[in-house]
This record gives sequence, structure tokens and C-alpha cells, in this order.
Amino acid sequence: MARPNVRRIINFALGQLTYPHDPREFFQVFNPLASAQYTRGVVTRVVRETDDVSTLFFRTGEGWVPHVAGQWARIGVEIDGKRLWRPYSISAAEGQDPSITVKRNGRVSGHLTSQTEPGSILYLEKPSGQFVLDEKASKVLFVVAGSGITPVMSMLRTLMPRRPEQDVVLVYSSRSAEDCIFGEEILELADQFPGLQPKFWLTEDFGRLDFGADGDLPALVPDYHERRIYACGPDSFVTQVEAFAAQSGGRAVVERFDTARRTSKSGRGEVFLAASDVTLEVEPAESILEAAERTGRELPHGCRMGICQTCLQPMLDGAVENIRTGEVHSEPGLIQTCSTRPAPAASLDL
Ligand SMILES: Cc1cc2nc3c(=O)[nH]c(=O)nc-3n(C[C@H](O)[C@H](O)[C@H](O)COP(=O)(O)OP(=O)(O)OC[C@H]3O[C@@H](n4cnc5c(N)ncnc54)[C@H](O)[C@@H]3O)c2cc1C
Ligand code: FES
Repeated sequence: MARPNVRRIINFALGQLTYPHDPREFFQVFNPLASAQYTRGVVTRVVRETDDVSTLFFRTGEGWVPHVAGQWARIGVEIDGKRLWRPYSISAAEGQDPSITVKRNGRVSGHLTSQTEPGSILYLEKPSGQFVLDEKASKVLFVVAGSGITPVMSMLRTLMPRRPEQDVVLVYSSRSAEDCIFGEEILELADQFPGLQPKFWLTEDFGRLDFGADGDLPALVPDYHERRIYACGPDSFVTQVEAFAAQSGGRAVVERFDTARRTSKSGRGEVFLAASDVTLEVEPAESILEAAERTGRELPHGCRMGICQTCLQPMLDGAVENIRTGEVHSEPGLIQTCSTRPAPAASLDL
């Protein structure tokens, strides 16, 4: 005899009790962190860091996995009845309630920085990412720009109390002193832990950091070749740090917060979604994922940056080009919808 499905029976019985609400949603009325499909977080505090950057502290519900310093999590918010997701690095130290520090930029970051307050609900996925500390590195160099300080702040808050003698140089580029997120806390940490040497670089005063062999970075950190290098920030900045590390025979550990896009060689393109019998027009600056979202279609995605592989979909024929490198790929098989666009046409098994 088939065993009764206990979970289904309990859900059915709960459904009778909580009608007309879904039982999972019903219990959230009493406990906003009760888990439905996704782990939830409730915002406990919002701190304005600069004119366009805020930190949101939140308490997490069932299913949350504590982060390792430097990791990011996908955060979902409801905007106009739709749940939108973006990756954000966790800025809190390991072992503490998580926080994210968000710079106002577009749709989701605008909502998080201006519409979110204590009591607001966030949807959460488990922290992930490889931008984490190498425990064996005796000398470390962090090179960050703008909001790229966020995962590094988690690392500094975790590392310095744990290993007070750790030799760390932080080169932190921001536009002005007012734009320098966590500036005061970094100075306080440096007072407390002499192994930490912060070097603030204000582009308003000094121009952009020169990564050349005789440029600013070697002058600021003469022993850079002895250090484990970590870089975080916008794509173009991180790419320069990668090249800098490579010219001295090293390899930087990097995290990019955005994608520097190439102008498409193919112009506007088309994607045929074979299973739905729909053709999507893709603008020259768009990824396939963005074109789908613009036309109201949800596709699976994680980092939106070519890191996590959550957005892989089968291409049946045609060709796609990488929005970052311009590289064209025409072999049928899995492609990343977050970082490709049709070149100029492709069909997907979707
Ligand atoms: C691993 C990781 C960690 C991150 N951590 C942080 C963090 O700690 N703090 C933080 O502030 N951010 C972080 N980010 C960036 C963050 O995920 C979002 O990308 C950012 O907040 C912008 O999202 P948005 O919805 O506000 O903007 P969107 O509305 O998605 O727009 C983002 C940018 O892309 C441009 N854009 C959007 N669509 C198109 C298009 N079709 N064509 C051309 N340009 C377009 C917009 O002009 C805008 O400048 C992280 C990203 C990654 C990958
Ligand atoms: S969403 Fe992460 S690789 Fe595409």
C-alpha cells in the first residue's frame, strides 16, 4: 500500500484552517520570518553611510546559513508587486547578524536605499562566493573602489580582532572624503590594530589610480609583490588590478560589482524561445536575461555577472556574444543568459 504523504496531508489540513490564505503566508502574519519558499529577513536598522549609500541590518529567519567574510547573498525585494533579486556582499563580520551596504544605482538599489526601513521584509538566499580570505596569507593587500569596500569591510571586521598582528594594507579609492564608506571605522580599526595600514585615494584630488609599473600603486605599497592581492569594485577597476598583479607574476582574488559592456558588433538581435514559440528583441546594450525581464519573463539568475552559472540555458542554434568580451559562441549547448546577447540571432530551448 502506498504510504500517505504526511506533508501533503498536514498542508491540506492547514489549508482548511487558514482558508482563504495559503497556510505559509497565513503564519507570516504572526511571524514575518516564518519561512515560505524563501528565507526571510526583517530589517532591524538602517544606517545612512553617505549621500547615496545605506547599510541595512537584518535578522534572519529559518534556513539562513551564516556567511563567511567576503561572501555575497542574493537579496529579493517586492517592487510594484514583483519580486526582484540582486546580489549584495555582506558587510557584517562573520558570526554577527548580517548587513548589506548598498549604493543607489538602479531599480533594486534605489528601493533598498530609499524605501526600506526597520520592519521591511527581505527575501534571502544562502551566502556564496569565493571572494574570501586566504587564512595562510601572511601579508595582504586589498585594493577597492567605491562600494567595493563592502566585502572587504566584512573581512577587516572579522580578521583584525581575530589576528591583531596581521599585516594588511588597504588601498581604498573613492571620489571624495564624503563618499568614503566606513572611513571613520577604518581609521578606528587602524588605531586599534597597528598591522592595518589604510591608504585613502580620493580621485577628486589625485585623479584615477595609476596601476602602471612606475605608477601610484607601487609607490603606495612598495612590497606589493609579497602580498596576497584582493580587488573589488567596478569591472574596469578590477581588471586593472588583475593586470597589475599578473605583471608581477601574481594572481589577484577578485569580485566585480558590475559588467563593463562592449558595444555589440551585431546591433539589435533576436532570440527565439522555441518551447514558448516567442521571439524576443534584444537591444544592443542588453543581455538576453535583461531583454526577457523587460518583456515580463522571469528567467533563473543569481549573480547576473557571469560568476554563478544559475542562468545557464540550452542554446539550440544560432550564436551569442559575450557582453563583456565580445567573444562569439556558436556551439549548441548551455549559455549564460546574464552575460550574452544574440549575435545576431539564437534560439533557446525555453
Ligand atoms: C557579487 C556581487 C556583489 C555585490 N555587492 C554589492 C554591494 O555590496 N553593494 C552594492 O551597492 N552593490 C553590490 N553589487 C551590485 C548589485 O548587485 C546591483 O548590481 C546594483 O545594486 C544595481 O542594481 P539595481 O537593480 O539597482 O540596478 P539595475 O536597474 O539593475 O541597473 C544597474 C546598472 O546597469 C545599467 N543597466 C541596466 N540595464 C541596462 C541595459 N539594458 N543596458 C545597459 N545598461 C543597463 C543601469 O544603468 C545601472 O547603472 C554586487 C554585485 C555582485 C555581482
Ligand atoms: S546569473 Fe550568475 S552566471 Fe549568470
